[in-house]
Amino acid sequence: MNSQSNKIKVWDFPTRFFHWAMVLLLVSLWWTAENGEMQWHQVCAYLLMVLVVFRLVWGFLGSETSLFKQFLVSPKRVVQYTLQQPKPNSIGHNPLGGYMVVLLLTLIILQLGTGLFATDDVFTEGPLMYLVSSDTASWLTWLHKNNFNLIIAMSAVHILAVAVHLLKGENLIKAMFSGYKNMQASIVAPKLCSPLLALIIIAIIFSLVWFYLLAPVVSFL
Ligand code: HEM
Ligand code: HEM
Repeated sequence: MNSQSNKIKVWDFPTRFFHWAMVLLLVSLWWTAENGEMQWHQVCAYLLMVLVVFRLVWGFLGSETSLFKQFLVSPKRVVQYTLQQPKPNSIGHNPLGGYMVVLLLTLIILQLGTGLFATDDVFTEGPLMYLVSSDTASWLTWLHKNNFNLIIAMSAVHILAVAVHLLKGENLIKAMFSGYKNMQASIVAPKLCSPLLALIIIAIIFSLVWFYLLAPVVSFL
């Protein structure tokens, strides 16, 4: 970076916490399913549910760089960005990355949704399985297993994209840990919300998930 660059805070703590906790929980969900630890599988899934619902709310009420309307731009701008050389550094997600974020979140929501109807035909049933026929439950379990492969594939594309930025000298990973990016001095820092607001939102979502989903599972641990 040249002398006219400034270190500015682009990612708030709640968004960074959401990202890395989500990665850890996804690994735990894979591990628990592979090892038959289905009680813990459900606990991790409901904790991830709290985080994902929080992220959706934060996409409307949160900091500037986390707002969906801020990073979901028109397809025309995505094409322009894709063709642009050299690519400008973005304050938050770049136009292409914004759509990847939505794709990843959608796949995780599908995974959570299908899990609620899934069954291993032995001990574990999703809490909503009783609402559907056994054929539908089998189909949703199939989807639950196969959608996870899609999550792995899209995560690989996501990590590859981050690695390409790294090779070109832009360390997005460091920014997702520290919150800071080096930007041109003329760039105005984005408005970031108080983590206290995030804590209140998370507490409300957690209470609901605890009452309806988590508490019954935890009582059997
Ligand atoms: C070790 C692996 C990973 C690394 C190094 C990584 C890195 C990053 C980085 C650097 C960003 C910010 C991108 C930007 O500046 O625009 C980001 C955002 C994001 N990543 Fe990852 N990521 C990893 C794994 C995953 C996985 C497994 C998922 C989910 C399947 C995921 C989902 C997301 C989402 C949803 C965002 C947007 C965050 C937000 O706006 O709330 N990441 N990731
Ligand atoms: C994003 C959250 C979730 C992820 C990443 C996830 C991941 C997985 C994976 C990788 C498997 C193993 C698939 C295989 O054997 O090939 C699995 C199985 C399973 N999951 Fe999830 N899961 C999630 C949420 C849930 C939820 C919310 C429930 C229900 C409370 C659930 C219930 C089950 C059941 C019952 C199985 C066993 C299916 C079988 O063995 O036939 N999952 N999950």
